[in-house]
Amino acid sequence: MKDNNPARGSTRQGDPLPIFLIGMMGSGKSYWAQRIAGELGMDWIDLDAAIEKQTQQTIKEIFETTGEASFRELESKILKKVAGYRRIVIATGGGTPCFHHNIDWMNAHGITIWIDETPGVLVKRLRPEKNHRPLIKDLSDDQLQDFLSRKLAERSVFYAQARHHLKGAEISLKSFHQIIQSHV
Ligand code: S3P
Repeated sequence: MKDNNPARGSTRQGDPLPIFLIGMMGSGKSYWAQRIAGELGMDWIDLDAAIEKQTQQTIKEIFETTGEASFRELESKILKKVAGYRRIVIATGGGTPCFHHNIDWMNAHGITIWIDETPGVLVKRLRPEKNHRPLIKDLSDDQLQDFLSRKLAERSVFYAQARHHLKGAEISLKSFHQIIQSHV
């Protein structure tokens, strides 16, 4: 089960807006959430970890027992809950912006940043850790490449609605910092 140290508390006036990192699985959302939070003295949370904590089930178990549709409902509900935490950077799940109008909600309530890595980079990162990821656990390496290219193409219409887009070499702490400063 993934876990980090979820922040607690409620939104107070004057706090910075929540930052939502969006993008494909393997794009580095949790890695960057942690680094941005460290740099800005904020907390960070992985939305999957928050779902696992609340349900006491792994994401894989939720998919297996109740199915994807029920996972997407939970995801949308818990997204709204964690976005209420103070000074928070949220690593969303790869599918979060694509269901239940979550991208509109995130745009209305915080700063959305699409971390856009190529399928080649995603495959390299995901190949060793397919097992606990329900959508890719049964795929061969070749199928993984096809699946990720197809999903990225499908999902780009949602990801592209993020207020900010960082691609490949543009993805750096400095770029995140500049984006966040532009909202202060
Ligand atoms: C999913 C991505 C996963 C997790 C679930 C579904 C997706 O999150 O929410 O397995 O639909 O792309 P990460 O992007 O954090 O791996």
